[in-house]
Amino acid sequence: MNLTEAEVVERLTEILGVNGVLHDPKDYGRYAQDWAGDQLGTPLAVVRPRDTAEVSKVVSLCHEYSIRMIAQGGNTGLVGGALPDIDYPELVISLERMTKIRRIDPLNFTMTVDSGCILEDIKNAALQVDCFFPLSLGAQGSCQIGGNIATNAGGVNVLRYGMMRQLVLGLEVVLPDGKIWNGMKGLYKDNRGYSLQQLFIGSEGTLGIVTGAVLKLSPRPEQIQTALLAVPSVEAAVRLYSLARSLCSDLLCAFELIPRQCMELAFEASPQLSDPLDTVYPNYVLLEVCATGGVDLAKMLECLTEKAMGSGEVIDGVLASSETQSKQLWQIRESMVEGQLLRGEHLRTDISVPISRMADCVEKATAAIRLISPESTTIAYGHIGDGNLHINVLPPAGSSKSEVSELLHRFEARIFEIVDDYDGSISAEHGIGRKKQAAFMARASESERALLAGIKAVFDPKGLMGAGRIFPPVDPS
Ligand code: FAD
Ligand code: LAC
Ligand code: ZN
Repeated sequence: MNLTEAEVVERLTEILGVNGVLHDPKDYGRYAQDWAGDQLGTPLAVVRPRDTAEVSKVVSLCHEYSIRMIAQGGNTGLVGGALPDIDYPELVISLERMTKIRRIDPLNFTMTVDSGCILEDIKNAALQVDCFFPLSLGAQGSCQIGGNIATNAGGVNVLRYGMMRQLVLGLEVVLPDGKIWNGMKGLYKDNRGYSLQQLFIGSEGTLGIVTGAVLKLSPRPEQIQTALLAVPSVEAAVRLYSLARSLCSDLLCAFELIPRQCMELAFEASPQLSDPLDTVYPNYVLLEVCATGGVDLAKMLECLTEKAMGSGEVIDGVLASSETQSKQLWQIRESMVEGQLLRGEHLRTDISVPISRMADCVEKATAAIRLISPESTTIAYGHIGDGNLHINVLPPAGSSKSEVSELLHRFEARIFEIVDDYDGSISAEHGIGRKKQAAFMARASESERALLAGIKAVFDPKGLMGAGRIFPPVDPS
């Protein structure tokens, strides 16, 4: 038996109360638009459960009446995963009211949270007990930990602390039939056969809705040293990374490539920022070392820069002399993402290749894009230490929407071909969602596709959760 839309809303209101259900398109706003404002979706309704039991009841209803649904966190994802379908209305299950920090156990170095907690709130709560939750990314003021888990988020500290896969010790998940899977153990070692927990991490809302998590904390770093170093080329940045790893006792916690164009974009977005160096250079590395205990980090960084200047990897640089100066350097890194957004619709990628081949890959990709569109701007920036770069392309100013759309398709296809030549990954950070679904499936072998479809069918045989993300779109009828 099918329910009418009005009946669905009535049943949802019975479960969640009037404040828990939005059904007037005037209220959909940010639930129905992606972060960049490039894409829109059409919710069947938006529900805002307050706890795991309510999520379970909502999902059970969807399961019983075959209603498609999508979990939504902070809606900062960059691959269209959290947006409801535009042609086939899906129920948006927003976790925004599930914001409890359930428990902090400083001796076990763990924090147990609701999945709707904002990442920044979790980071601040950890600092309160002299601990550190290391996931750091530009959207941390609005993304939720459930979204971070669902996308296996990365960010700027991965090279030291790992991605979300390494930062989760326990999960609570509402499965697509509404049952609750409780895996909230908080253990550092647990080797009982298959890891269901790891299957949920990075599953992008297609296997279940994460409602709670036990997160792994680290000691709060007592010392942090930040430097912005000018490097003559991407290749020099890669050599500098290798040198920094050996000279800094693996205390490196961030190593980010920033090309000059990105610095200019940061200044466009945040005019209060100023150039940290007197001379303009083609590329910079923003690096940070951090430690607890009696290590002389300043000395370590001094040795590194001296040596690197001697061998030509570094040509100039500034060491932050205060926390404020360090923050200003990081503001450049954050604002350059905003600056790209201000230039309008553009290509965003998050590819990875072996670290040793990164410089070569950037050179090839830049040359290939120039051949397609000499007036476009290619920028390659990001997480050198993870072999993960954002090779993004800004189309020429003044292009029409259809010209931009056509160009972006061509740019992406060409960059992905180049990444394939290096046996790289077309998504190292942001996931597949809907945007990269076709490119992902085109690269999966027949046996991979069968295994993936088999896993999906075990968890969600009716295909109701996150339809069209990771897997091909499903016929609405
Ligand atoms: P959403 O966008 O709401 O959802 C993302 C996906 O997860 C969707 O498929 C959704 O259905 C699913 N989902 C959300 N919540 C749940 C849940 N509770 N249970 C199950 N599924 C769920 N990403 C990086 O990895 N590294 C970066 O450095 C980085 N920097 C960014 C900088 C900016 C300025 C922006 C806008 C984004 C950046 N991102 C980055 C991408 C994005 O912030 C991350 O992917 C983030 O983890 C998404 O969290 P969210 O809560 O916004 O998830
Ligand atoms: C970054 C995001 C976009 O690294 O992943 O800036
Ligand atoms: Zn990134």
